[in-house]
Amino acid sequence: MPFLEVNNLCKRYDATQALAGVSFSIGGGEVLGLLGPNGAGKTTTLMIMAGLLRADAGTLSCEGRPLDPTAPAYRRSLGFAPQNIAAYPELTALENLRFFGRLYGLKRSDLATRAAEILAITGLAPRQHSRVATFSGGMKRRLNFGIALLHRPNLLILDEPTVGVDPQSRAHLIGQTRALRDQGVSVIYASHYMEEVQVVCDRVAIMDQGRIVVADTLRNLLHRLDAETLVEIPATACEQLDALTQAADRVEQRGDRLVLAVRQPDDNGASGIGPAVSRLLAVLDELRLPVLSVTTKRPDLEQLFLRMTGRELRD
Ligand SMILES: Nc1ncnc2c1ncn2[C@@H]1O[C@H](COP(=O)(O)OP(=O)(O)O)[C@@H](O)[C@H]1O
Ligand SMILES: [Mg+2]
Repeated sequence: MPFLEVNNLCKRYDATQALAGVSFSIGGGEVLGLLGPNGAGKTTTLMIMAGLLRADAGTLSCEGRPLDPTAPAYRRSLGFAPQNIAAYPELTALENLRFFGRLYGLKRSDLATRAAEILAITGLAPRQHSRVATFSGGMKRRLNFGIALLHRPNLLILDEPTVGVDPQSRAHLIGQTRALRDQGVSVIYASHYMEEVQVVCDRVAIMDQGRIVVADTLRNLLHRLDAETLVEIPATACEQLDALTQAADRVEQRGDRLVLAVRQPDDNGASGIGPAVSRLLAVLDELRLPVLSVTTKRPDLEQLFLRMTGRELRD
């Protein structure tokens, strides 16, 4: 049984239908990626799940029982790192942790220990007495993440946790997310960065225009696409186009080159040259056409998004 289920959420802001029936589930101790371009409806979904926004329709359930996302017990079990940084710029990192800790109802003795732990987890201990206004984007994001962890939630909702951060902070946040998952915390990780979702998430729900397009394990999603090998030859070979279109799945002209694409169904890009590519290379050899390059494209979520929606994931 999934830990949490989201069923058919709908939400409209005036003229905009932000969510048009969003359903997905999260298992215990897994990182679920919510991947979609800006405007897909990720933040709206997460705000509803965090009990901060009311859905027009739809329900949540936790371990099979109906869940009211505004119920205090649920709110206490949940950590939410919002897309807009929650920390107060005029307070220091430590003052922010104390403030939010009291808000979460941590006891005074626990608060000091927990704040020190969070400063260690986020790598902010050396700057704990600095005002957040003086922090880099990466440091602010790490504090935002740390605040969500203060009360030891077993469900963590992260909304674009790495926007505007340096590569080091990004790696840090990804590592800490995986560590929490290993401790049994369920995590929802919303992002429009395909690379990141691919690294950090166990399962991925791809979202577009207020709907879940597809949701599955990363492995299964990537297996939906065949690896593709691209062989480049000079565009002067156009005269032999008939033979080439027979030997390749797709032929495309790019400037002074022809790109011959061959799908490799049973190969996810791990090995270079499969039987179909060997056949194409043999044909090129027979036609005495020079090969300029051979590259194999590993299937990724970007290509899957393009396939499912007909549009690019990036802006
Ligand atoms: N407060 C709001 N008022 C009006 N429209 C909004 C509001 N918040 C979000 N939207 C619109 O709802 C859609 C989904 O937005 P959002 O949930 O923020 O998506 P995402 O987080 O995936 O970028 C977008 O078209 C956005 O412009
Ligand atoms: Mg958003």
